[in-house]
Amino acid sequence: MTTDLLGARTVRKALEAATAQLSPHSRTPQLDAQLILAHLLNQRREYLIAHDDMALSLDQIVAYAKLIEQRARGMPIAYLLGKQAFFDRELIVTPQVLIPRPETELIVERALAWVEAQSRQSDPTLRIADVGTGSGAIAVTLAARLPSARVLATDISAAALQVAQRNGQNLPNLRYMQCDLLSGIGGQFDLICANLPYIATAELQELEVAKFEPLLALDGGADGLALIRALLQQAPSHMTTPGLLLLEIGAEQGEAVCAAAQEAFGERAQISLHKDRAGLDRVLQVAL
Ligand SMILES: C[S@@+](CC[C@H](N)C(=O)[O-])C[C@H]1O[C@@H](n2cnc3c(N)ncnc32)[C@H](O)[C@@H]1O
Repeated sequence: MTTDLLGARTVRKALEAATAQLSPHSRTPQLDAQLILAHLLNQRREYLIAHDDMALSLDQIVAYAKLIEQRARGMPIAYLLGKQAFFDRELIVTPQVLIPRPETELIVERALAWVEAQSRQSDPTLRIADVGTGSGAIAVTLAARLPSARVLATDISAAALQVAQRNGQNLPNLRYMQCDLLSGIGGQFDLICANLPYIATAELQELEVAKFEPLLALDGGADGLALIRALLQQAPSHMTTPGLLLLEIGAEQGEAVCAAAQEAFGERAQISLHKDRAGLDRVLQVAL
């Protein structure tokens, strides 16, 4: 803990000291300092700017200094705040779940567009699965947007499912199941979505995210595709016709996943890739 921050007694001094402490470690030191203090004081960021001469207690300063130190060590801001924006909502996140990424919103967008194209927004027979739900980002958003549909959120991690349950607690059309991919799940789905781990094990050591986010959410085996291939093998017998599978992939994996999807589904499927906002291959789509 820096003595500068511990010596600060007003909002302005605390923000200045925290920003200076975070500068070597974060690309957005001032924003981080403001978000963390606003969170601690249970206020909006604008409030801090308008009340920068407000006095802080020693307890508040000590608590703030601890959080700033964690951020300086690389802890993602979402874990420190306990929340992350995704699509049209704010989700609870803990270190037991992957922090939902903006790229994953593409799955939600494609899923909603497909349901609309099929004119099934109010169809009570529509069944949706989100495999490897983590915080529940995809499942919760779809269940909220499609209240008639029945949505199943699955994960192999019980801890992750608890977080998903907290995020989906007001959604009566959302169910949860702890299982390995689709094993043990009965019936068929019109729509299967998944953002499974897709980073190769060897690459993980070099990645900053792997120091803080759960390995179970990142490690895709030797070539990164172990879980995606396994799901592609299981999916055909769990899908209706018409039906849609949407799988998030790594930017370099497009060719390999298309080949794996072709092998798993054969001629009956229309296989395509969707690009993210950065123009990179991001979602595999299999339409029946
Ligand atoms: C990349 S995270 C994605 C979380 C969330 N869907 C999202 O987009 O933010 C992958 C999730 O898959 C889960 N997972 C890993 N292996 C699994 C398996 N064999 N079966 C089901 N879920 C699995 C992890 O626990 C983790 O929550």
